[in-house]
Amino acid sequence: MSDSPQGGNLLHEERRFPPSPEFQSQAIAKPELYQAATKNRLGFWADQARGLLHWHTPFTQTLDWSNPPFARWFADGALNVSYNCLDRHVEAGLGDRVALHFEGEPGDSRAITYAELTTEVKKAANMLIAHGVKAGDRIILYMPLVPEAVIAMLAVARLGAIHSVVFGGFSAESLRARIDDADATVVITADGGNRKGSVFALKPAVDQALADGKTNVRSVIVVKRGGNDVEWNAGLDFWWHDEIAKHSDEHTAEGFEAENPLFILYTSGTTGKPKGILHTSGGYLTQAAFTHKNIFDLHPETDVYWCTADVGWITGHSYVVYGPLANGATQVIYEGTPDTPHPGRWWEIIEKYRVSLFYTAPTAIRTFMKLGREIPQKFDLSSLRVLGSVGEPINPEAWMWYRDVIGGGKTPVVDTWWQTETGAIMISALPGITAAKPGSAQVPMPGITLDVVSEDGVPVGPDGSGLLVITEPWPSMLRGIWGDPERYKETYWSKFGDRYFAGDGAHLDADGDVWLLGRVDDVMNVSGHRLSTMEIESAIVAHPMAAEAAVVGAADETTGQAVVAFVILKSRFVGTLSDEEVSQQIRAWVGEQIGAIAKPRTVFVVGELPKTRSGKIMRRLLRDIAEGREIGDTTTLTDTTVVRTINTAVND
Ligand code: WT7
Repeated sequence: MSDSPQGGNLLHEERRFPPSPEFQSQAIAKPELYQAATKNRLGFWADQARGLLHWHTPFTQTLDWSNPPFARWFADGALNVSYNCLDRHVEAGLGDRVALHFEGEPGDSRAITYAELTTEVKKAANMLIAHGVKAGDRIILYMPLVPEAVIAMLAVARLGAIHSVVFGGFSAESLRARIDDADATVVITADGGNRKGSVFALKPAVDQALADGKTNVRSVIVVKRGGNDVEWNAGLDFWWHDEIAKHSDEHTAEGFEAENPLFILYTSGTTGKPKGILHTSGGYLTQAAFTHKNIFDLHPETDVYWCTADVGWITGHSYVVYGPLANGATQVIYEGTPDTPHPGRWWEIIEKYRVSLFYTAPTAIRTFMKLGREIPQKFDLSSLRVLGSVGEPINPEAWMWYRDVIGGGKTPVVDTWWQTETGAIMISALPGITAAKPGSAQVPMPGITLDVVSEDGVPVGPDGSGLLVITEPWPSMLRGIWGDPERYKETYWSKFGDRYFAGDGAHLDADGDVWLLGRVDDVMNVSGHRLSTMEIESAIVAHPMAAEAAVVGAADETTGQAVVAFVILKSRFVGTLSDEEVSQQIRAWVGEQIGAIAKPRTVFVVGELPKTRSGKIMRRLLRDIAEGREIGDTTTLTDTTVVRTINTAVND
């Protein structure tokens, strides 16, 4: 089991923060939710689906689990996801409510009401139809966080087509792999976006990905945002603004069956090839809306919500686009980085828009902790009511800082555990009900059943540690891996048969609260983003100089884990470059192959790698070395001198 990123034993934190009576009395979520879900779990989810969403055709069947692990929720019902996020709010008289407060990094801003967003999405849907898009087609989005990204997602969804958003930090190679795997027909991108005070180009990566002409992409639609020069492929490339201008703002949303695919989102697994996680419509939207409303205690008439995630990640899908918009929330979206043009930018945005519900990642919180409380204290953060955390375990120190410094010592903090695969939050406190315990994600959401079990599947019980499993299907669960049903079964269901294996280690404390302990597989978590050791290793060994490589996630104070690579050079390259030069080349190469986010923090050039007699790389040992620990028992190593070689390299 991998270590908790901040090391130390976090399991004995005794402090508890019950909700204040004022918070409790106005809270959306009431304790009866738990009772209702326990009494009749499927009935509870059916009630949520009916209460939270508009159905073009009501469903009569809640769950079909006759072909496990392929679930079907609300399968005989029909709905339109985009209609649920837009038109119905306008029809209910809420057209003038701001849906998006967009804040660009350079300081430009734009408020878009629900009526305006609906109009834009209708035009974009008509534009996509003109480009031949129909239900079931796959559309790739490779965009900065601008309103058009949200508009594009909702326009694709409106047509019953499937979007696959590729985070703008991924390389042309990664983009191409996803275009191929999804067999996409249209790519929506931008010339570039703003990041850290300059423009980063996106269009060239799309050009490079499509250069050999061997994909089925027939249109590339380009939003003008960065203002950077771009090359133009006549007949293939189209400016978004030119295309949109041609189309009417009339478009009637049609109902699609609840199991109609909504999106594919690629995420790293334990092999070299990313998995296309498939989500569908009715169950996904139900749980995204339910969790968003209850965990953030959303009062849509008065709250201003801000989730700092990019739409390239699952958090951006469920808690920037689908959950908040289905609930009619007013929210902030911000294009840039937290420190541009000054390190108080986020807090300035909270002050400017009077943000009341805020959702971010522990890495960001720890970065701000290091910079000092003087920075947030310059801003008026008194509008904040609920603070959320996601992506990695939050250590009690960061939790306390978040509550005290950002939340003025009064706001509830909710630590939310979930995954790309789960689609929506699975474990979290409810801010008006749960007495919060810093460092623990605490309790399953109403309607979710889970357990912590030993390697052989036996529940560990209170005060025990083991593997986190989900014991019953849930509405927003993945429906599979795109094009690879066998890998879906193998990855998540082969270990325990009837229970979903999440890949995380967990501890249950004496109160039954869950403490997440990090991944137990070869998946790393860097700043709340998932990276695969295998994927980075295969990228490195594709470099002409590299003979062998091993990658581990080493504990990092700020980012949770950091990528550390050990590389053996082919003999003819040994001694030709300095270790520093090799390291630079490898880092740049990984940036090209996968994307900047996967670049190793540290590259060690070594003579050999420690292996067991059966030839398995001893990653635990490499992690010890990367984290500067004394290395333990190495008697199973084939060659004990290897360890010395590596250690010397590390200490150089
Ligand atoms: C993995 C999923 C869920 C959106 C962002 C990441 C880790 C996520 C927590 C948390 C401890 C967490 C797990 C999980 N994780 N949230 N609150 N406490 N660990 O999505 O890329 O699919 O990664 O992130 O290890 O398995 P993802």
